[in-house]
Amino acid sequence: MTVDQMGLGLTRASFVIFLFLFLASPPPSSAAIGGASGEDYIRPLPRETLSFPWRPKLSSGPQQVHISLAGMNHMRITWITYDKSSPSIVEYGTSPGKYTSSSQGESSSYKYLFYSSGNINHAVIGPLASNTYYYYWCGGQGPEFQLKTPPSQFPITFAVVGDLGQTGWTKSTLEHISQCKYDVHLLPGDLSYADYQQHLWDSFGELVQPLASTRPWMVTEGNHEKESILMFKSGFQAYNARWKMPYEESGSTSNLYYSFEVAGVHIIMLGSYTDYDENSDQYAWLKADLARVDRERTPWLLVLLHVPWYNTNWAHQGEGEEMMAAMEPLLYAAGVDILIAGHVHAYERMERIYNKAFDPCGLVHITIGDGGNREGLAQRFRHPKPEWSVFREASFGHGELRIVNSTHAFWSWHRNEDDESVKSDDVWINSLVSTGCITEMKPEYRKVLMAP
Ligand SMILES: [Fe+2]
Repeated sequence: MTVDQMGLGLTRASFVIFLFLFLASPPPSSAAIGGASGEDYIRPLPRETLSFPWRPKLSSGPQQVHISLAGMNHMRITWITYDKSSPSIVEYGTSPGKYTSSSQGESSSYKYLFYSSGNINHAVIGPLASNTYYYYWCGGQGPEFQLKTPPSQFPITFAVVGDLGQTGWTKSTLEHISQCKYDVHLLPGDLSYADYQQHLWDSFGELVQPLASTRPWMVTEGNHEKESILMFKSGFQAYNARWKMPYEESGSTSNLYYSFEVAGVHIIMLGSYTDYDENSDQYAWLKADLARVDRERTPWLLVLLHVPWYNTNWAHQGEGEEMMAAMEPLLYAAGVDILIAGHVHAYERMERIYNKAFDPCGLVHITIGDGGNREGLAQRFRHPKPEWSVFREASFGHGELRIVNSTHAFWSWHRNEDDESVKSDDVWINSLVSTGCITEMKPEYRKVLMAP
């Protein structure tokens, strides 16, 4: 079989380069090999990477449609076409087939070695009513899509999962998420696991479209988004082109970190793979963003990033330490309620922590890098388990965070048990606003936020 017969649209030379880059990509987590984490749950077997019939580029219809929040009451619609004359326009309305509004977008494309992307379109629609179904189509052709805007006030539910990839377990996780009534999807990094093979970004876009075209997907970058090549490619080219997030809307100059507000929750998406020291742009932006948070308007404050700061798994031990040393005092001083990370292919929920110890005014840390990636699970946990680690297990699954009101939220983790979603961990979380931590914050911590 020739390379072209394999349906990848590659020349033999480019295939050889892709193969080389693939082999040179980061090795699977070493912690995927090893003993059990101590739980008596018998895990189902690994599942293979999905294979997709490669779609010919002749189709001019919209593909890989996904949506994301883009400032107050606005939504960004993203899609790809292979017809350069296809207009970058979204028409939409609240009844099927009746489009009362339209929005002009912009399109771009990128080249990566021998790969040329389709036209990547982004169009922002709105202002939109909250908690409302809208019907839309892209470029004046193709199927009609339906989306639901999030509520403007509590309660609100987030589906949460990191390190998705595109394996049989990814499919299972996505099916379980689709059964959950959620408003916004949060993804703390490692999306497609394309790892230089750009067509895998396209297949990932197709795989997630049924969910990502109906509810906003808010993502931040992981190591598998980087795809840098020494002295040739600076990194995040495909990720930034395809998964544009509301960084401009939140005063950031980089798609790698931004924030947004929805229904009484301020959510900060940090970048583990861009500078974060005290002299960095990200640090300055974070400080300014935290200063803008109004706990009357958004009583809940969440942070998502890829590399966990607290982690009792042997996988990726200590990788988050530097970033934590730089930014933990800021997040603590601002009274961040929950920090959600990915990267480690297991689930772990921790107590409120600050400075490596239990602290009632610290952050609840959750690691949920178990969406279904091809590298497998990180099964080796460190012993003895520190007191602040409450629940840990190496299984694929997803999380759901239902913020009920300004004081209470319900977090649950749902393990993929064969093809069934089984709730395996849950906890009620009180907001720091309700426990008095915000008003009683010591002046020395406040100074960290106020310092120039
Ligand atoms: Fe990762």
